[in-house]
Amino acid sequence: MSDQDLDQNPNKACQKSTECVHAGAVAQPAALGVNTPVVTSSAFDYRVDHVRYPRYHNTLNHEVVAARVAALESGEASLVTASGMGAISAVFLGLMKPGDHAILLDGIYGGTIDLVTGLLEPMGMRFSTWDGAPDSLPGLVEEHTRLVHVESPTNPLMDIVDLAAVARIAQAHKLISVVDNTFATPLLQRPLEMGFDLVVHSGTKYLAGHSDLLCGAIVGNGELIARLKPTVIRLGSSLNGRELSLLERSMATLAVRVERQSANAGVLARRLGEHGAVETVYYPGLADHPDHDLAKAQMSDFGAMLSFRLAGSVDPDRFLNRLALVRPAVSLGGVETTICQPARTSHAKVAAEIRQRLNINDRLMRLSVGIEAADDLWLDLDQALSDT
Ligand SMILES: Cc1ncc(COP(=O)(O)O)c(C=O)c1O
Repeated sequence: MSDQDLDQNPNKACQKSTECVHAGAVAQPAALGVNTPVVTSSAFDYRVDHVRYPRYHNTLNHEVVAARVAALESGEASLVTASGMGAISAVFLGLMKPGDHAILLDGIYGGTIDLVTGLLEPMGMRFSTWDGAPDSLPGLVEEHTRLVHVESPTNPLMDIVDLAAVARIAQAHKLISVVDNTFATPLLQRPLEMGFDLVVHSGTKYLAGHSDLLCGAIVGNGELIARLKPTVIRLGSSLNGRELSLLERSMATLAVRVERQSANAGVLARRLGEHGAVETVYYPGLADHPDHDLAKAQMSDFGAMLSFRLAGSVDPDRFLNRLALVRPAVSLGGVETTICQPARTSHAKVAAEIRQRLNINDRLMRLSVGIEAADDLWLDLDQALSDT
């Protein structure tokens, strides 16, 4: 979208739920349709303006979807990548070199830990693990520390980090602050407004929302995104027009999905907490969650992800086999409710001693709550829990 289009755009001051549907959209004088055309070409006449190519993120569908993601996160620009790991790896590889150091929040998504231990550390980058307490962060900063990477809520234990404090400390030490906002979505939490430099997403989850697309995003100011773009292009982390069009369609319903999913999650979290077959529920919306007040202050709702630990008497396999509506499946964020054991899925590649320290075992269940009727979901969970 040109600056002129943006200036004339009455959506500029709209709420996020309106931006889900309209941000970045371009007028189409030729077709006058309400939807962005799907640009299927991967070959363009290079003599017309500049070299256009899907991997360079410069087709119409790239530009519209990137503008929408940037608007939702209140960022200046974004890059829509081929997966969440495509986004996360580009940030580390684009901003660090061998010998550099970064700080990682403890207990984050297993794929990010695997990227660090399996690729970045062997390349000579160094990492420290941070326990999430703002007071202990400055002590981890070294001469060559470049960035700090956090998640909030974390996957899978739903810890909450004080994002404004992290952004403040990072700024004071000239570190680039990066947050994985996959679980919260930009509808519920906007870290760039709290002073973060970059937001990353597994768009595969809520942005796409229907368990049928793999994608990711990096959002930030224009300068940082321009700095990261060559790395994203070199890594080949891009989508084609058809996938981008699907993502654009999905984002139109993001606000209504997330609102319904979060309401459902609140209901299920409370009922699970009262069930005798459940030892602990991890959900920031519960008043007894250790970070409930912080979550309330920095999120507009508590999201649709929750975890719970089965009581010792419950056989996890039997519980999972008994479920009829709730589908055991890896991944999350779809319209359908799914459940998984992080020990066997998202954190399977994480070293056993790290899993043990984080208490991620077979009895820990991560629930991604969908848009179904909450009572139907509860009936299913209750019958499976009660029979074990
Ligand atoms: C919090 C979080 N970040 C990043 C990723 C990686 O995303 P993708 O699978 O799209 O590469 C995931 C995947 O589960 C995730 O849960």
